[in-house]
Amino acid sequence: MFPLVTLFGYLIVIAILLNFSMYFIFLWIRNSKNRNIRKKLATVARKWMKSHRPVAVVATCFLLLHVFFVYQQRSDYFSMQFASGIIAGGMFLILIITGLYRNQKATGRRRRAHQYTAFLFVFFVLIHVAIVYL
Ligand code: HEM
Ligand code: HEM
Repeated sequence: MFPLVTLFGYLIVIAILLNFSMYFIFLWIRNSKNRNIRKKLATVARKWMKSHRPVAVVATCFLLLHVFFVYQQRSDYFSMQFASGIIAGGMFLILIITGLYRNQKATGRRRRAHQYTAFLFVFFVLIHVAIVYL
């Protein structure tokens, strides 16, 4: 059996990948020359976007559970594993806030803010997971 920390850690990773895939769908739409394919992709993107916010809510629950089990099992609060986890957690909070802003009103600046924080967040998660195994 997986320890619960590990289970919820990887469930967060899966949720993030599901939501991050939006980036590649939008990229594909932008780069596609064929109008028909663009239209089809736009329909897929619209449907896929319906799961985006629920997946983010689920990811937040997994994160809370991950943190709960981490604090239950560990007490080395000043370790690299904790520090990198807290940075990833902080970045997640910023990502959710930019997502909410983007959701409220879609300006170019808000779109880019959500996109950049999504990239930064994935980067910090990679560092966190790498440090856990180093
Ligand atoms: C932001 C999202 C986060 C993701 C995606 C994430 C993901 C992961 C993953 C995949 C692991 C490896 C599982 C293992 O083998 O144990 C892990 C371990 C760990 N995480 Fe996170 N984490 C996040 C946030 C946090 C936060 C906020 C903290 C600090 C409170 C934290 C502290 C830890 C610690 C201490 C471990 C090592 C646990 C152990 O194996 O004993 N993580 N995390
Ligand atoms: C796990 C957390 C999340 C991740 C990893 C994530 C990631 C992404 C990515 C990569 C995109 C595509 C950006 C682009 O290329 O333009 C996107 C779009 C978007 N996200 Fe998120 N996001 C998350 C949470 C949220 C939340 C909590 C909300 C709002 C409540 C949100 C609202 C949106 C909206 C409205 C779009 C634009 C869709 C469109 O243009 O039609 N996201 N997100």
